Amino acid sequence: MADLLMGLDLGTSGVKALLLNPAGSVVASASAEYPLYHPQPGWAEQHPADWWAGTVAAIRACLERAAPAGYAPADVRGLAISGQMHGAVLLDAADAVLRPAIIWADQRTGAECDEITRIVGQERLIDLVSNPALPGFTAPKLLWVRNHEPAVWAQVRHVLLPKDWLRYRLTGTMAQEISDAAGTCLLDVTQGTWSAAVLAALDLAPDLFPPIVGSAVVAGTLTAAAAAATGLPVGLPIAGGGADNACAAVGAGIVQPGQALISIGTSGVVLAYSATPSVDRSGPIPRAHTFNHAVPDAWYLMGVTQGAGLSLRWVRDQLGALEQGQAAATGRDAYAVLTDEAADIPPGSAGLLFLPYLQGERTPILDGQARGGWIGLTAAHTRAHLVRAVLEGVAFSLRDCLGVLQASGVAVTEIRATGGGMRSPLWREIVAAVCGEPLVPLATEEGPALGAALLAGVAVGSYPDIPAACAQVVRLAAPTVPEVTAMARYADLYPLYQGLYPALRVTMHALS
Ligand code: XUL
Repeated sequence: MADLLMGLDLGTSGVKALLLNPAGSVVASASAEYPLYHPQPGWAEQHPADWWAGTVAAIRACLERAAPAGYAPADVRGLAISGQMHGAVLLDAADAVLRPAIIWADQRTGAECDEITRIVGQERLIDLVSNPALPGFTAPKLLWVRNHEPAVWAQVRHVLLPKDWLRYRLTGTMAQEISDAAGTCLLDVTQGTWSAAVLAALDLAPDLFPPIVGSAVVAGTLTAAAAAATGLPVGLPIAGGGADNACAAVGAGIVQPGQALISIGTSGVVLAYSATPSVDRSGPIPRAHTFNHAVPDAWYLMGVTQGAGLSLRWVRDQLGALEQGQAAATGRDAYAVLTDEAADIPPGSAGLLFLPYLQGERTPILDGQARGGWIGLTAAHTRAHLVRAVLEGVAFSLRDCLGVLQASGVAVTEIRATGGGMRSPLWREIVAAVCGEPLVPLATEEGPALGAALLAGVAVGSYPDIPAACAQVVRLAAPTVPEVTAMARYADLYPLYQGLYPALRVTMHALS
């Protein structure tokens, strides 16, 4: 009988299930997509019921794919979930979901962020939870529901983050895993406990929030009902798991000072390991987040660009619909067609810049009302230029994040690359040249689900600890080295890119 570990990644566009044997080979994986709703501009919601249906489908498909190689569901020894951060799942007294989850990408809570900052005080908030109140975070979402949907708020008895809700559905036990709790703006990130001071100041009852658990410890076991739904064995140990960025870091082996990660998923992230809960003091308020790592007693600093892969997906949907429709017949999806076209355009997109602020922006401008756009269009530009400018604009925005981390003083000596967008050699080359840094891709790109499987492995004793799990499993590919001419061109363009937001800010706000 084999020992297998299952990692789930509850993402924004879909959920992935992966089966790993502890030696480090991925035995099978499967995904299921679900919708993202924008009921109003700037809003982003998902239905937990869709997450559940997707999870059941992905787990079953993954188990089916492992079967021909002789693996059975009973071989699965442990499971952990990686999750999109910051979402709010609100449950009533019967533990039923009260409204669609408001997710990380949602920008409706500007007034509630101001409310939190006013009540707690900007400096005191950073002292208490290591981060400012930002629209994507969980706490302002709770205040928004209290302010705008009082009838719903009156029924709320439990608040869970997305993957912790999913774990609750699997185990029947409510717990809040620490690396995700860090993104609520309610956790004392230094101590790893709910901040009684912030909860009291915001008049949020402490019993709304379940107890904090570690990432790589068993947080519950699979119920009979969930076993029947998924095909996994009853009693399967399920670990705390982690925030998707913490799990991506584990899956990429970011477990020591100096190690950093750039990832392009729906959002883009630049993350650096930190042995202390240090806060970015390079500006008036921290522009990078300080969150607890899945590794015990470790943290990371992270800059986030809200619309990374999202920008390319938007372009694909708007400008590549025809190719997308023909994908089945041609065998090439619209992403491949568009990025191949963009590869023929020289760096700089013939004087075209793109601001990727399609969902507002976090690092470095912290502005939910920022808006995107192409600047510099002429009649000579083609679709290929538009697409290349999008890839470059996202890269500039990641460079902004890297710059904030470097200014904050956190050590960055080696950058690994992960996420769906980094699978594109072109995009990786552009990011390397824009940042002026070599990027080390992973030999197999499995994303946060791999990190989650490793957390499960530590929880059930397959590995002694997280660094040991990484040493055994994480394999790197040859680095993508910045190309000299492209690097020089981007060095000239970066100040122009940086000048756009200050020049357009007032207009963006008026338009939003
Ligand atoms: C991080 C963040 C995103 C989500 C995406 O702060 O909001 O990276 O975790 O899933």
